[in-house]
Amino acid sequence: MNERIAICPGSFDPITLGHLDIINRAAAMFDKIIVVVMENRDKKCSFTPDERRVLIEKSVVGIQNVEVDCYDGLLAEYAAQKGACAIIKGLRAMSDFEYEFQMALTNKKLNPDVETLFLTTKAENMYLSSSMVRLIASMNGDITEFVPPIIHDDIVSRLSKSANKNNGG
Ligand code: PNS
Repeated sequence: MNERIAICPGSFDPITLGHLDIINRAAAMFDKIIVVVMENRDKKCSFTPDERRVLIEKSVVGIQNVEVDCYDGLLAEYAAQKGACAIIKGLRAMSDFEYEFQMALTNKKLNPDVETLFLTTKAENMYLSSSMVRLIASMNGDITEFVPPIIHDDIVSRLSKSANKNNGG
C-alpha cells in the first residue's frame, strides 16, 4: 500500500511547543510527516529559512516518521511533488479560521488531490505564537514554557537584547 504522507507547512519563526504538539499528533496519524519551512509573504521573519529548519530538526529528533525541509514556492505544488495526501494546519482560535479557510480552498483548487486537515490546538497553547516568543525573548523575558527545551538557548542567544546589541540591532 502507498505511504500516506502529510505536509505540516508554516513559517516556524521559530517553532513553538504549539507547533510541536500538532506535529506529534499528525505523526501518529500518517506514515510520514514532512514539516516544511515556507515563506509567508505577509510576514517578515527573524530567523533565516535554514536557521528555522535546524531548530525544527532539533525539536523533532525523537519522532521517527518526521522529515524537515525548506521550500520557496507554492504549497500546493510542493504537496504534489512529495505525493502528499494531506496538509495539516493547527487552529488556535476563530481568528485563525478565515485566513486558514481561504488558504485551504485555494490549495484545493490548485491541487485537488490534497485535503487540508485542521487540528485544534491544546487549550494551553491557545494564546501561543512565534511572534509572542520573539517579542518576549527580545526583551529578555522567560520563554521556557513556550519552546522545545532543546532549542531554548539557541533562541535566547539569537534574539536576546545582548545578541541584538552585538549584531548592531
Ligand atoms: O505559519 P504561517 O505563517 O501561518 O504559514 C503560512 C504558510 C507559510 C503555510 C503559507 O503562507 C504558505 O503556504 N506559503 C507558501 C505559498 C503558498 O502556497 N501560499 C498559499 C496560496 S493561497
